[in-house]
Amino acid sequence: MKVGFYQFRPLFGKTEKNCQKILTALENVDADLIILPELALSGYYFKDKNESLKYAEDPDNSSLLDSLANFANKKKLYLVVGFAEKRGEQCYNSAALIGPNGIEHIYRKVHLFNEEKFCFDPGDTPFIVNDINGVKIGIMICFDWVFPEVTRVLALQGAQIICQPSNLVLTFCQKTMLARCIENKVFAITANRFGTDTRPQGSLKFTGKSQIVAPSGTLLHRAASQRDALYITEIDPTDADNKMITEHNGVLSDRRPEFYTLLNN
Ligand code: ACM
Repeated sequence: MKVGFYQFRPLFGKTEKNCQKILTALENVDADLIILPELALSGYYFKDKNESLKYAEDPDNSSLLDSLANFANKKKLYLVVGFAEKRGEQCYNSAALIGPNGIEHIYRKVHLFNEEKFCFDPGDTPFIVNDINGVKIGIMICFDWVFPEVTRVLALQGAQIICQPSNLVLTFCQKTMLARCIENKVFAITANRFGTDTRPQGSLKFTGKSQIVAPSGTLLHRAASQRDALYITEIDPTDADNKMITEHNGVLSDRRPEFYTLLNN
């Protein structure tokens, strides 16, 4: 399976330009699954919810998501793309799984980061696994990385590849995802953005370094910090099916949930 990411610098509020940039960059790509950054169409640093709604897409009526779906259909591939999702007066920081038949799933970010709490409604979609041509993928968005439960519940449902659209400003995630992959024996593709959103309320610089990690914890590739990067590599998703970390220890089968009951609170 050919998987990868496209790291770029979305321009704040320039939704059509950003979508066109994606389509142009991916025009000649040969891949089965490509992950794009969080809020890849709109840019990131909204000042409030009125502003995030202004640049959000209603998936039932979005020419931009339609054009990504047409592209996925033409190339017979899958995209995971972050976007601001408008549903009436609600606005979510979402990621769509778009395949040859259109949008197959939308995940709404559960753990909002910092000032995102002023701009988005908290996600209300469960962490589920999607089957794409027999491969099981799970989606989380950026700051969800801080919560190991997210990768775990996806792995417990059989996820082989964790897809993580991101707009990272802290420097810890790329390192942490190595641990998430080892402790769950999954692949993870982190598609981050780079550049700076400079707005009246301040300025945020994003850290790039998009990456792909194998179930062994091996870093298969990491992009540069501040540069466009389209990277595709061949993986065998079934490498994620062997959950043994020693001859006598399975990372999932050795769990003792009766000792973790505090996690239910
Ligand atoms: C983040 O969740 N965008 C840091």
